[in-house]
Amino acid sequence: MTDNSSDTNDWMQDLIAKSAAAKEKAYCPYSKFRVGAALLDMDGKIFTGCNVENASYPVGVCAERTAICKAVSEGCQKFKAIAIISDIDEDFISPCGFCRQAMREFQINDIVCAKSTPVNGLYKFRRHTLDELLPFSFGPEDLQRPKIGS
Ligand code: THU
Repeated sequence: MTDNSSDTNDWMQDLIAKSAAAKEKAYCPYSKFRVGAALLDMDGKIFTGCNVENASYPVGVCAERTAICKAVSEGCQKFKAIAIISDIDEDFISPCGFCRQAMREFQINDIVCAKSTPVNGLYKFRRHTLDELLPFSFGPEDLQRPKIGS
């Protein structure tokens, strides 16, 4: 984990700002917990996402997976980083387990978790590798391992 909360790195601030803009679109009448995500692909393209809830609660989708599904459905599968933001300022947002697993599928290895309000024009954030957030993970390669009885 890198506590880069005072990092002024431009591309990261831009990615967080885009996640904040996506958060404005959150559809969360049940939890009233808005989340935004911005996913940067290897060619510099950014896909945003917000949480989209449903009256049948388990059907709801998190912001991170909205962004991942948008990117993959547009033909992008290689990513540099994802930024995530909520309305919390007290601490950094932390992605849920489902979303960590979705990031694992596409090896999204730079996870930027921001606080809600910029300070002097800069978002505070914390950066994680995927392995930090999902150690000993299960992924596509595991399905290829030799199995007993075959
Ligand atoms: N949520 C996200 O969008 N991303 C996360 O990583 C954490 C949780 C959403 C799901 C639900 O709509 C709301 O936040 C409350 O759990």
